[in-house]
Amino acid sequence: MNFSNLFRTKSLSAVLREPDNPHDDIEPHKLKRHLGVWDLTAFGIAAIVGAGIFSTIGKASAAAGPAVILLFIGTAIACSFAAFAYAEFASLAPVSGSAYTYSYLTFGELFAWIIGWALIMEYAIGNIVVAISWSDYFTSLVNHATPWHIPEWLTTDFRTAHRHYDAVMPALSSGGNTLEALAANPDIGEVAVGGYLAWANAPQLGPLRLIFDAPALLINILITWLVYRGIKESRNASNIMVVIKLAIVLLVIAVGAFYVDTSNWSPFMPNGVAGILAGISSVFFAYIGFDAISTTAEECKNPQRDLPRGILSSIVICTILYIIIALVVTGMVSYKELNVGDPLAYVFEKIQGLRWLSGVIAVSAVVAMASVMLVFQLGQPRIWMSMSRDGLLPPAFARIHPRYQTPAFATLVTGLLVGVPLLFLDMSFVVDMCSVGTLFAFVLVCAGVLQLDRMQLPATAENETKFKTPYINAQFIIPLLFVGTIAAMAYYGKLGSVFNDGLHSIPIIIFFIVFAVLSVLSYLRRYSLIPVLGLLSCLYMMSQLGWSNWLGFSIWLLIGLAIYFGYGYTHSKLRQAQTQV
Ligand code: ALA
Repeated sequence: MNFSNLFRTKSLSAVLREPDNPHDDIEPHKLKRHLGVWDLTAFGIAAIVGAGIFSTIGKASAAAGPAVILLFIGTAIACSFAAFAYAEFASLAPVSGSAYTYSYLTFGELFAWIIGWALIMEYAIGNIVVAISWSDYFTSLVNHATPWHIPEWLTTDFRTAHRHYDAVMPALSSGGNTLEALAANPDIGEVAVGGYLAWANAPQLGPLRLIFDAPALLINILITWLVYRGIKESRNASNIMVVIKLAIVLLVIAVGAFYVDTSNWSPFMPNGVAGILAGISSVFFAYIGFDAISTTAEECKNPQRDLPRGILSSIVICTILYIIIALVVTGMVSYKELNVGDPLAYVFEKIQGLRWLSGVIAVSAVVAMASVMLVFQLGQPRIWMSMSRDGLLPPAFARIHPRYQTPAFATLVTGLLVGVPLLFLDMSFVVDMCSVGTLFAFVLVCAGVLQLDRMQLPATAENETKFKTPYINAQFIIPLLFVGTIAAMAYYGKLGSVFNDGLHSIPIIIFFIVFAVLSVLSYLRRYSLIPVLGLLSCLYMMSQLGWSNWLGFSIWLLIGLAIYFGYGYTHSKLRQAQTQV
């Protein structure tokens, strides 16, 4: 094996030829260019506003208290740095592969594969989270707002039902307890009783209990079908969903603002910094999505101009909305009450005369999450398509449907990859995995911009018009920040506790090593500040996601490497071309 092959980069001219010069052997049809800047901004908002703000922030607010706002602001800043990096690459190399292609250009094939593999965590695994949250809202809507009741065994996954059964059974058999009493008991709760009922009432096929999340499965099938049918159909559906969800979010803000009781903002930080950091994964999850629109580059009318605009405007709009929502929600009720799966609906349920609004919010949450699924389900097959064009995945992944002009096979595989695991995976595990994988991609894309600056692309008239991240010299700022951080940690006596926590310290130690190396390189090479800050802030968030998530993600990467060396390495078109020369 020739290891230098692993780091061979693709040339920009080869990347730019891809969309209009498809590989005739596998890809006789091209994608259709239908998207303008408004569609892209709408796709961005469609992908960002979803399960995060409607569901997972409940837990983050309960842990952080009103200080969750600081987490929203900090995460927005980190994501905006990364958004600049995506915007720059999307303008430079407007092809469907997104971060995968950007890494191929700057770091070579092995890193490109790693990123492509990590992005499965963002899109396919992320969609599992969204599908499960969608199902929670949908089920509660049907059960509360209609005469029907969906049986528990059709709305829960197998493992959760089993766990809850085991938790509820002893309390129930100890005598004197009814299910109603246990549902009202804060130590057990309604969700656990639902899980118990799912297990107890499930039909049995021999020894096997039939328990699965049918609404989640159904929405996955519907979205897969829509994405399979065409980009225009997907765009129209997404635009309608965005209008509905923005209208509701604005309504929540406008009405909720009148019910804010400022005494709820005190204490502001009840659980200290640890409480704030506990919510990183949930809040970061709420921001994920702006990057997904870069995968539609080959379906944009003017990608070089419109993609950066779409990426940056969608993140700015969502940041403003999120910060205001966080202020309103934590102002309306005590943070302690927010540990619920539907926080936005919950805060209105408590206000006499405004219950109807909580129903409207539940409907719009269902719409909002469907739109996130739509964009993620669009993104995943397009990345596989790019990987397949390069020979790293079998040719079927690049095949375009002759009539619908979508990557049909890859779209169906995405549907399966979301649909099968959602039957048995646990929600918090998938949120964390999605956040780790996405942050990892953001780190590498920011590093890619630093590498790009060093590659000195030819100063052609076309390259001059492409979007560039504004340059601020990091030469002194980053080293000073490093020294300042270490000095502050030493002053507050934190150095020992951060670095002496056994295996749990590994992520933060890696962060500080990278920080130190970047300080030196920034000094020597006058790096651009925005990508350096993007890299550091995303890596820091990653370091806070816990050792077990790093371990899970490392195992995922190892599986990916085994597939690469088993298939991609030998089928790589770039390697084959270079071997022939
Ligand atoms: N940001 C997306 C959501 O919150 C992933 O659903």
